[in-house]
Amino acid sequence: MSKLNRIGRRSHRLLSGLLAAAVVLAPAAAAAAGDTPSIWPPIGPLPERAAAKESLVAMGHRLFFDARISGDGGVSCATCHDPKQGFGKSVDLAGAVQRLSAAYPGSSHFRNAPTLVNTVYKADFANVGWSWDGHMGANLNDVIRNEITETAIMNMDMRIMHERLKQDPVYVAMCEENFGGDCSSGKARKAIVAFLGTLVSKDAPFDTGAMSDAARRGREVFEGKANCIACHNGPYFSDGEPHNTGVPENLEIFRDPVRHLTYRSILTNHGVPKMEIWRRDVGYFLVSKDYADVGRFITPTLRELKYTAPYMHNGVIDTLAGVVDFYNYGGGHEDPLAGELGQLALNDAEKSDLVAFLESLSSVTPVTVEPVTIIQKYEVIEDWLEVPN
Ligand code: HEC
Ligand code: HEC
Repeated sequence: MSKLNRIGRRSHRLLSGLLAAAVVLAPAAAAAAGDTPSIWPPIGPLPERAAAKESLVAMGHRLFFDARISGDGGVSCATCHDPKQGFGKSVDLAGAVQRLSAAYPGSSHFRNAPTLVNTVYKADFANVGWSWDGHMGANLNDVIRNEITETAIMNMDMRIMHERLKQDPVYVAMCEENFGGDCSSGKARKAIVAFLGTLVSKDAPFDTGAMSDAARRGREVFEGKANCIACHNGPYFSDGEPHNTGVPENLEIFRDPVRHLTYRSILTNHGVPKMEIWRRDVGYFLVSKDYADVGRFITPTLRELKYTAPYMHNGVIDTLAGVVDFYNYGGGHEDPLAGELGQLALNDAEKSDLVAFLESLSSVTPVTVEPVTIIQKYEVIEDWLEVPN
């Protein structure tokens, strides 16, 4: 699809929103300001979102840390999306770099766990949907259902989840307060969506205007010579489209038999043609089944990168300087399908300015939340048992 077609589709989709006006007006506005006219949606602060009810957020917060919503009661959202690691996972329990996510016991994942900070904005800015290849659905409620029921993630049956919620007096009270009735897995998903809605960038220098001179120069490189804005555009820094930048394969997926099996089973579940032959992550092909999409991944946001190393769908690049070197070299060269990028010829100063700009897109105070220790809540039940009849 041509870039202009893509813009057209995007404008059409957002026609009723304010963003559409920004998209359409951007070139004229930029030209009036004397800048180089750009056909890309301008980068800028994320729009404010209406806050969800505090009690609903509290319910989602508790569910986020609750391993009982996984099949074996051993995995919570926080296991893979660690609030102390940018709501992704950079290092494992032993402190080693974790490029690929953990998965439900008995399986190992083949993708890097993405951050959940600002993920709520994907509905507005991503045309394809959530996850690195867009397979997880186009609304956040579906995505959560996917995460909970997917065998390689939480492997939970929604009916069992329903029963478990009904058996916990804390959830019973929370459902009564928020929904005026019994718990259900659907209500739990609504609460998790409300909680994710609170995970947004707070005080990134790019948004507050406190950018260093290096970051300001880096912005010029980003929008000019390096043309990163061709894909990383708009307030979410993503065009929401799949692209093939030629990121090298992480061969761990094929060396580790458990990861390999997990990968094959997901390909099978999605009806990927020639499931058994692929020796690479097929990316967006898993969704579209169009061979031109092999190796394409949805442009990720560039916000909060300071807290979410290693980078890319398979975590193969360790640092932002490494990412900039990768692009300077014209992306990966092993994949004949990766033809979108060219060499950039950035000098050392431009490269370090670009890194400073990328860093200015991360909150100064990391976005995080206090863990909820579920077991403490049982003490309430013990007190109750001790009440004399
Ligand atoms: C076992 C590890 C694991 C657990 C547990 C887990 N996730 Fe994920 N999550 C992942 C991985 C890996 C991906 C990326 C999958 C892909 O791209 O194929 C992901 C993707 C996501 C995304 C998409 C993000 C984006 O911007 O596209 C959201 C949202 C999400 N998870 C939320 C949750 C929530 C909420 C829970 C708990 C209900 C949860 N996850 C539990 C590993 C996990
Ligand atoms: C042709 C579209 C395109 C262009 C141009 C582009 N990117 Fe990307 N970018 C992507 C895609 C797609 C990914 C995900 C690739 C993957 O994981 O395989 C990505 C990933 C990234 C990541 C990793 C994010 C993460 O969370 O792991 C960073 C950082 C990044 N790009 C920065 C840049 C910079 C800086 C430039 C300009 C030098 C740039 N990009 C130009 C499409 C693009």
